[in-house]
Amino acid sequence: MNEHVKVTDTTAAAPATKPTVKAVPMLPDAQTVTEVQHYTDRLFRFRCTRPASLRFRSGEFVMIGLMGEPHPETGKQKPLLRAYSIASPSWDEEMEFYSIKVEDGPLTSRLQHIKVGDEVILRPKPVGTLVHDALIPGKRIWFFATGTGFAPFASLLREPQTYEDYDEIIITHTCREADELIYGRELIEGLKDDELLNEVIGEGFWKKIKYYPTTTREESAKMGRITDLMRSGEAFKELGVEPLNPEQDRAMICGNLAFNLELKEMFEEYGLEEGANSKPAHYVVEKAFLD
Ligand code: A2P
Repeated sequence: MNEHVKVTDTTAAAPATKPTVKAVPMLPDAQTVTEVQHYTDRLFRFRCTRPASLRFRSGEFVMIGLMGEPHPETGKQKPLLRAYSIASPSWDEEMEFYSIKVEDGPLTSRLQHIKVGDEVILRPKPVGTLVHDALIPGKRIWFFATGTGFAPFASLLREPQTYEDYDEIIITHTCREADELIYGRELIEGLKDDELLNEVIGEGFWKKIKYYPTTTREESAKMGRITDLMRSGEAFKELGVEPLNPEQDRAMICGNLAFNLELKEMFEEYGLEEGANSKPAHYVVEKAFLD
């Protein structure tokens, strides 16, 4: 059903031959790239068209990719897909993705070269746990990200429900280098002019956001891993809040595996319970998918 087939009429090009209609297969579930922006030699984002039938909840992920190289013997090609958090909100007419570039990564070594007008494969089956439905009501929500783990929060920060459900939104982002914070910082700064959020939530909605970016391997305004800064109490002091507690705090985590596990352990110490779509609770976790 999802096979896109372009029908090419070759009669005009070859009038001497018998008229034929040749089917040229295109990518299955193909979407067209509309914008590409590179931030560093390790990070880029792109936007593409959205399948008309795709509905998703802000914070979910889908499988995206490219057609793989032809098999050396059979010549057959298989799609090369990876899970990617959708970085755009559920109401956006396009899709946005934020990706790492890995030189020898099977997918990202090629994906990093996509240009406007190219096609990507996008399987329209969204899933994931970083969704509002998996949390019980609270006063404050924390988004904890490392690296490209910022992506689902780029979606949730543009989602009106985030501001309807919570009085305060704290986003922490830990990266190795300062330039790796650009995507997140620009997105957060841009929220002030977001027409939909200003209209639906009201002017000044962005004052609910507290942004806490840190770097670990390059000098920046704030250095250190967020986990260490929380353990020492420094992060809470600077943010002007108490450590997380199950009565009022809710949290979503998206980073590398070690980061996720460390935060989970800390949250259990604070008395927070992990939630899921089927059993909402205080916090949810998702791995930032790498190539
Ligand atoms: P560090 O430079 O100290 O390893 P990566 O690019 O390797 O996924 O890491 C992204 C960011 O996450 C880096 O700043 C890294 O810090 C940080 N990080 C890695 N593991 C943890 C962890 N267990 N707790 C907190 N931050 C972490």
